[in-house]
Amino acid sequence: MTTRGGFVPSVVDRAWIESAAAPLHPALAEIEAAAGPDGIPILDREAGRVLTALAAGRRRIVEVGTAFGYSTLCMALGQPTDGTIATIDPDRSRTDRARGWWRQAGIPDGRIAVVNRPALVAFAAAAGEPALAGPFDLAFIDALKNEYAAYVEAIVPRLAPGALVIADNVLWAGRVSGERPSGPGDATDVLRAFDSAILRDPRFTATILPIGDGLLLAGFRG
Ligand SMILES: C[S@@+](CC[C@H](N)C(=O)[O-])C[C@H]1O[C@@H](n2cnc3c(N)ncnc32)[C@H](O)[C@@H]1O
Repeated sequence: MTTRGGFVPSVVDRAWIESAAAPLHPALAEIEAAAGPDGIPILDREAGRVLTALAAGRRRIVEVGTAFGYSTLCMALGQPTDGTIATIDPDRSRTDRARGWWRQAGIPDGRIAVVNRPALVAFAAAAGEPALAGPFDLAFIDALKNEYAAYVEAIVPRLAPGALVIADNVLWAGRVSGERPSGPGDATDVLRAFDSAILRDPRFTATILPIGDGLLLAGFRG
């Protein structure tokens, strides 16, 4: 690994970036405040800011794993104002709460279609889920870790050339690299295999940003 003069960004650098950034949207702050006590794992704030930036110019987005809609809202705020998102999560009690925060942020209901089914079931029932037909300019994956590879295979036929596929948690809190020990039966092995496969997959040009819990970025060659 090469770094410039040995520089590795620290928590001080990260804090400066946050202090210089545009204020967090109040609806995102409310989701952050609600997710902790309810034990809902949502995207790290820094990763959310990256998602917002990467959504710029991407009109058609699909997301796997909505929860309280934090990542959905990050993308909706970065998209063109006529952009749409199809987001999948079988837990309706979570996505109903998400809708309230999206409305609070002024996102019209018609821009975000929620599919309350397991993602692989929803993708397989394409005729019954018009919101998932595609083509999509960006796909964000953040649901069951052992299904990440299957989500990518279901999404690839629905991608526009040049689309971005993004997946969260790909460093799994240091367990994928071995910096921290993994536990029996956790998702470490499956995520390591997923990362290695996508990083060398000729259909993509891919890398991993070491922010949050690790954000995989894969540009679809089309
Ligand atoms: C890590 S949370 C998503 C967080 C969200 N992306 C965010 O950052 O705000 C994972 C979500 O995946 C959902 N989920 C579980 N099984 C799923 C499946 N088979 N298909 C789609 N979503 C699933 C869970 O209900 C949970 O809300």
